[in-house]
Amino acid sequence: MSETPKTPVAILLSGRGSNATALIEACKQPDFPARICLVLSNKPDAPGLDMARAAGLETVAIDHRLYKKDRDAHERAVDTALRDAGAQVVCLAGYMRLLTPFLTTRWAGKMLNIHPSLLPVFPGLHTHERALDAGVRIHGCTVHLVTEGMDEGPILGQAAVPVLPGDTADALAARVLRQEHQLYPDVLRRYLTKSQAPISADAALLVA
Ligand code: GRF
Repeated sequence: MSETPKTPVAILLSGRGSNATALIEACKQPDFPARICLVLSNKPDAPGLDMARAAGLETVAIDHRLYKKDRDAHERAVDTALRDAGAQVVCLAGYMRLLTPFLTTRWAGKMLNIHPSLLPVFPGLHTHERALDAGVRIHGCTVHLVTEGMDEGPILGQAAVPVLPGDTADALAARVLRQEHQLYPDVLRRYLTKSQAPISADAALLVA
């Protein structure tokens, strides 16, 4: 039996890294078409970096604060680390930096992001509070390609989550996060294999 070719994928994160964990776990499956070649953070103390180190992965911290306001210089360092690691695809997983055209152009079509709303509604921060304030009945998460505009790139996959009576932002966030953890590996697999097969997450409603 021939082995599944594994594309080297880098993960960029800034925080706890639960989506990174989901991707790392997926990559352990023999038939998953990716391997994680680097986990990079702009925050040296990000718990997600500790998790990746414990998983035996290559990690690097490139602290944006050391670059003061020179965003380009920081992104050049990030880009160099990605290329040195041999990354062919980059997954943003809670990477809390706005990217400049330097990185978005270099990685156009090869950089994915997960966002906790059904884009194009609620780009940016505090999506769960805003969904509750707006009174929406369906919320969810989106994986999309990264372009220059924040949370604006082409949508690759979405998982919908019902808003329940009495929901708090935290309760809703937790339910959306569970779907994120299924959606991101599913979409990455489909993206890498150019598959048109339905995604397998068990969300209330799925839109590929
Ligand atoms: C997730 O909700 C993701 O959608 C957003 O940032 C959060 C990161 O969480 N972009 P984690 O670090 O993956 O746990």
